[in-house]
Amino acid sequence: MTEEAYRLITPDGHELELPVHKGTTGPDVVDIGRLYNNQGVFTYDPGFIATGSCASDITFIDGEKGILMYRGYPVEQLAEHSNFIEVCYLLLNGELPTASELEEFDTTIRTHTMLNEGMLNFFKGFRYNAHPMAMLSAVVGSMSAYYHDTTDVHNPEHRDIFAHRIVAKLPTIAAAAYKLSIGQPFMYPKNGLNYTENFLQMMFSVPAERYETDPIQAEALDLLFILHADHEQNCSTSTVRMAGSSGANPYSAIAAGISALWGPAHGGANEAVLRMLDEIGDVSQIDKYLAKAKDKDDPFRLMGFGHRVYKNFDPRATIIREMAHKVLNSLPNNNETPLFELALKLEELALKDDYFIEKNLYPNVDFYSGIIYKALGIPTSMFTVMFALGRSVGWVSHWREMISDPNQKIARPRQLYVGAAERDYVPLEKR
Ligand code: SDX
Repeated sequence: MTEEAYRLITPDGHELELPVHKGTTGPDVVDIGRLYNNQGVFTYDPGFIATGSCASDITFIDGEKGILMYRGYPVEQLAEHSNFIEVCYLLLNGELPTASELEEFDTTIRTHTMLNEGMLNFFKGFRYNAHPMAMLSAVVGSMSAYYHDTTDVHNPEHRDIFAHRIVAKLPTIAAAAYKLSIGQPFMYPKNGLNYTENFLQMMFSVPAERYETDPIQAEALDLLFILHADHEQNCSTSTVRMAGSSGANPYSAIAAGISALWGPAHGGANEAVLRMLDEIGDVSQIDKYLAKAKDKDDPFRLMGFGHRVYKNFDPRATIIREMAHKVLNSLPNNNETPLFELALKLEELALKDDYFIEKNLYPNVDFYSGIIYKALGIPTSMFTVMFALGRSVGWVSHWREMISDPNQKIARPRQLYVGAAERDYVPLEKR
C-alpha cells in the first residue's frame, strides 16, 4: 500500500490527515483509525455500504464494469476453461495448480468426503420437513464438536485439514439432508467420481438402481459452483470473518456463514425467485408484480434483482442465463421451460422500466440459477444449499486469510447511541 492522505478540517478548525491506502485496482481506502483517538468521533455507515472491512487478495469485483476476478483471473475465463476443484485450489492457495498439485489436491478432497458415522445420527433428530439450510448449519456446526480438540487455528496444518474437510464434506452433508427430506437412505460418497458427479450420485442414486451421471447436469452444476465460489466481503463471508475473528472454532464460523446466507436478501434469494415466478404464474401478471415491486407501501421486491455492488450487470447472471438455455434445450420438453420463458420476459420488461433503470436494478446471480437447479431435479428448498456448496470454499479462503494475518484483531464495531439519557431506577410501587 502507498501512502497519500485526505486532509480534514475538524470542527475546532484544526487540520487532520487521514492516510489513503491504494490497492492493486479498485477504489482507494481512507484509513480512519486515528479519527477516534484524535477527535473522539466514530464514522457511521449502517450496512457498511462505503466501508472496507479488510485488505484482501482473494476476489475483486467492480460494480460499475461488472467485473468479478478470483485471484486476478476473470470469472468468465475460469467458467470457460476451469472446473470447481481447480477453482477451489486457486481460491485457497492463490495460484492455479500444476498438474501434480491439482491431482494431489483432488485426491485429498475425494478421500475426505465421508462423515463420521455418529454425525449421520444428527439427521435422525430432524423432522422430515426440516429446511435443508437449517440442517446444513446444524450439522456443520456439529463438526466443531467432532474436531474440537484437533483444531488449533494457529497451526497451518490444522488450517489445511479444516479447509479440506469443509470442501469435501459439505456435499455429503447436503445430500444427506435431501435424502432425509424424501425418506430415502443416505448414499455414501464414491471416491472414483469427481466433485460434482459424486454430489449428484449422493443426491439422486438409490441402492436399488444403477446410476449414471448426466454429463450436461454435471457440467451445469460445476459451472454454478464456480460462479458461486466467492464474492469478496458479502454478508455471509463477512459473518465468517467476524465469527472467526474471536478465535472461535472455524467449523462454527462456517455454520454462522451458512445461517447468514439463508436470508432472502442474500443467498436465500434463489429460492425466493422460484417462489416469486410461481406466484406470478403467467406473463400476463408481470405488470402487476412490477407495480408491486415499485410500490413503497408494498414490501414485495423483485427477487433476483438488484445488488449492493453491481449497478450495471452481474457477470454471473449473464453466464448462468446462457447455461440455463443450454440445460433446458438439452432436456427436451422440460417442464421448467415455461418458467424460464416467464423469467426471460420478466427480465425484458423490468430492464425497460424507468424505476429499475433509475435504481440500477439488474438480474443478479440468483435470478436464473434456480431455474437450472429445478431443471436438474433439485427441489426449491435445496437451492440455497447449492449456493452454500459453492460459497464454502470462499468462506474458508477468507477465514484463512483473516486468521493468518499477523495484525488480525477481533472484529468489534462501535455505534451511535440514540437511547435514553442516564436516569434513576424507579421502584415498582412508584411506576
Ligand atoms: C446475493 O453481496 C453480495 O455479493 C451478495 C451476492 C454474493 O454473491 O454473495 O452477490 C449474492 O445476495 C445477491 C442478491 C440477492 N438478493 C436478492 O435478489 C433480493 C432482492 N434484492 C434486494 O433485496 C436488494 O437489491 C439487495 C439486498 C440485493 C441490495 O440491497 P441494497 O444494496 O441495500 O439496496 P437497497 O435495498 O437500499 O435498494 C436501493 C433502492 C431502494 O429504493 P429506495 O429506498 O432508494 O427508494 O432500490 C430498491 C430499494 O427499494 N430495490 C428494489 C429491489 N432491490 C432494491 N426494488 C424492487 N425490487 C428489488 N429487487
